[in-house]
Amino acid sequence: MLGNFVYANPTKLYFGDEPKNNLIEAISGFGKKVLLTYGGGSIKRNGIYDDVTAALTEAGKEVVELSGVMPNPTVEKVEEGRRIARENNVDIILAVGGGSTIDYAKAVSVSAWYDGDAWERFWLHHEDPKPGERIIPVGAVLTMAGTGSEMNGGSVITNHATKLKIGKVFGEEVMPKFAILNPKYTFSLPHRQMVAGIFDTMSHILEQYLSGDDDSTSDYLAEGLMRSVISSSRVAVKDPENYEARSNLMWSATWALNTLIGEGKTQDWMVHMIGQAIGAYTDATHGMTLSGISVAYYRYIMRYGTTRFARFAEVVWGIDSKGKTEAQLAAEGIDALEAWIKEIGAASEITSLGVTEDMLEGIARASFILKGGYKKLTREEIVEILKASL
Ligand code: NZQ
Ligand code: ZN
Repeated sequence: MLGNFVYANPTKLYFGDEPKNNLIEAISGFGKKVLLTYGGGSIKRNGIYDDVTAALTEAGKEVVELSGVMPNPTVEKVEEGRRIARENNVDIILAVGGGSTIDYAKAVSVSAWYDGDAWERFWLHHEDPKPGERIIPVGAVLTMAGTGSEMNGGSVITNHATKLKIGKVFGEEVMPKFAILNPKYTFSLPHRQMVAGIFDTMSHILEQYLSGDDDSTSDYLAEGLMRSVISSSRVAVKDPENYEARSNLMWSATWALNTLIGEGKTQDWMVHMIGQAIGAYTDATHGMTLSGISVAYYRYIMRYGTTRFARFAEVVWGIDSKGKTEAQLAAEGIDALEAWIKEIGAASEITSLGVTEDMLEGIARASFILKGGYKKLTREEIVEILKASL
């Protein structure tokens, strides 16, 4: 561990299959008026909406509803939420959904009482709210495991007009005050969304793990989480209602991106930068954009971080190192990752996500280039990685 850091996480988690009582307790300390926000209606079909509204009634809350949050929420939707939150002077925003709805609630939280252009300020310029500035507290009922949004400050918003999808990572004041994690709520997810969430979790861990070469506690934690994700994914794809597997996947997703395993170390995040640019062009499912390019990306950069990639092969995939060079081991680790992507049914290329050859230059231009990985990419290299992912 080489870095200096301050670690705090204000989100109170309520884990398990008693969501109604947990929500009543969690939300009781906040004001009376709740902005209940959710997506396209899955919560009405699977009963989660009934649980939540019953809990809010029992807790004596007055509810204003804001539905229709789309996967990959847009600036226009944030504008609508900002207006409704302000007009109703709500005390708390309760997001019921996956990463899109929770990210959206954070966006509305910081934008509602800001008079200027919120997109420009928070996402384009990456500013934080000033101390004392009015922001609305957010609580979450998680229905899809993957993004970690339930316990972090991330808020990813898409601007289709400018073809930009940008993630702003806010501080403690914007992170959810509480999150209700009931693994049973994820049972109704379509197979494709479950798998997308599983790969998203894996990718969050890889982005933090495949960087740096010091001996770091964070990396040992990452290895344990990856082994758990791989093991539980194999159970869940065959038996989606396996509570043990789904609870492990939910818990792993939360820890994969609640800042813990990134502490004290450099991090990569280029798969996410390219994946987000693909998302801006195609509106494709987030986790699938990541699985679609990961293999080509890692095959390209593993030569610059061979020792860590060899460790990944040995520790995470259990590949026998006997008689092999580090480069051989590293390559076998990526082969194992590729085989697992296919095994669970995540996207292993980007053509099926709507990417066409004429988009590649634009996607490369829309990818923010970061330098925390083993190799700082050029635009030309991003185009090559995208070509190899078609
Ligand atoms: O909208 P509804 O009808 O609810 O349907 C959703 C949506 O269509 C459905 N769904 C969710 N829970 C369900 C369910 N369907 C049946 N049963 C359930 N229990 O699943 C679909 C996808 O939901 P969404 O919230 O979009 O998925 P996810 O959790 O993957 O979130 C994706 C968004 O999060 C951002 C992504 O970029 C993307 O915009 N990210 C946020 C991060 C963060 N806050 O730190 C980090 C991530 O890397 C990611 O970028
Ligand atoms: Zn992600």
